[in-house]
Amino acid sequence: SIGSLTSAALEGPLGAKSAPVLLRLDRSMSSVTIPPPACMLRPLEVPLRYLFGPGPSNVPPRILAAGSRPIIGHLHPEMYEIMNDIKKGIQYAFQTENNMTIAMSGSGHAAMECAVFNTVEPGESVLIAINGIWGERVAEIAERMGANVHRMVKTPGRYFTNTEIEQAIKKHKPVLLFLAHGESSAGLCHPVDGIGDICRKHDCLFLVDTVASLGAAPIFMDKQNIDILYSGSQKALNAPPGTAPISFNDRACHKMFNRKTKPVSYLFDMTHLSNYWGCDGKPARVYHHTGPVSGFFALRESLAILAERVKGYFPTSSVTFLNKKSPFFICVLQDLRLPSVTTIAIPEGYDWREMLTYIMKHHCIEMTGGLGPSIGMVMRIGLMGYNCEKTNADMALHALADALKNCKKSKA
Ligand SMILES: *Cc1c(COP(=O)(O)O)cnc(C)c1O
Ligand SMILES: *[C@@H]1O[C@H](CO)[C@@H](O)[C@H](O)[C@H]1NC(C)=O
Repeated sequence: SIGSLTSAALEGPLGAKSAPVLLRLDRSMSSVTIPPPACMLRPLEVPLRYLFGPGPSNVPPRILAAGSRPIIGHLHPEMYEIMNDIKKGIQYAFQTENNMTIAMSGSGHAAMECAVFNTVEPGESVLIAINGIWGERVAEIAERMGANVHRMVKTPGRYFTNTEIEQAIKKHKPVLLFLAHGESSAGLCHPVDGIGDICRKHDCLFLVDTVASLGAAPIFMDKQNIDILYSGSQKALNAPPGTAPISFNDRACHKMFNRKTKPVSYLFDMTHLSNYWGCDGKPARVYHHTGPVSGFFALRESLAILAERVKGYFPTSSVTFLNKKSPFFICVLQDLRLPSVTTIAIPEGYDWREMLTYIMKHHCIEMTGGLGPSIGMVMRIGLMGYNCEKTNADMALHALADALKNCKKSKA
């Protein structure tokens, strides 16, 4: 019983009951002066919402069920088996044979920091392509760890040509180039072909963010010579937030395992994480941190769903549904639209915040405004993975039309 467990725990190292400890415990229990909060005595309430923003997305019952399986130890052989499956699932989703493929215990930002912290040392030059918010975030992460950050900046929705990228690499001689494949703040899917070759030529690592695009737009890590690739669980993969796939190729491993300094983060140090994920060739995996066991179950299920799709990504995209039917101006060039997140211009004379509040209140649908430099420029509709259905696109457009009818239009 719990009682005997407690008294056993109170026994000293020699098995003698320790009265002073018991006394101290009693006194601390009776001295609770802050009453239990009333909210904690009510059951948890979570509303049902249509998550048609840029993430998180709705989680299908099959993935929710996987996440609710009983907990096992993070170092049990069965858990290693599940982690090995996840590794294979990520290798398929990324189209890579890299051994150094794991899932971070944390959201997309954990993978961003892991990538930068492990492959860059203080004082080294990095080049960041910024055409929305994500490049700016990575620039800040790199600055915080002491890198010498060079930014190449475009308005949200614009893209960088390979010539522009090569010129900037020649000028700044970075050890790392960052690019967001799916720029979710702008709704742009950036071309990737050829950039990896340019980086290789100039001895620079190519880091690509696919948090918003993995599972929605094709990506080929090995064929496209991407050195470091990461994603997130809660967008087109439709898993709960909190885990983030990441992979490093041999070039990236060579750089990160031949450092002069230790990475600034202990939790995100790949020498430890590679052992935890069985990627370092050592026979034993030792305790580093406790991984999010339920989150890994759910991620495994979402990768299994992806593996059941022959192409490795969802064949339909929100563009297919919203493109022709939408009476709204779509902000990005047809060929570069991100399949998972569509940015539309804010209808003239309307307050986008009021429209979004109306849509949430009357339709239980989440859509969002812009983010970072795209705030006030766009509204965003995300139909990610399992949410990417014609009926959902129709619902989203119907809700927008209803908001136009019922929200105030300014006279100006
Ligand atoms: C959402 C997103 C992230 C951040 O992911 P979190 O899970 O919120 O930390 C990074 N990059 C892109 C492109 C995203 O869309
Ligand atoms: C990955 O590891 C396995 C087993 O250790 C090895 O056989 C294989 O060659 C490695 N692959 C790569 C791409 O390094």
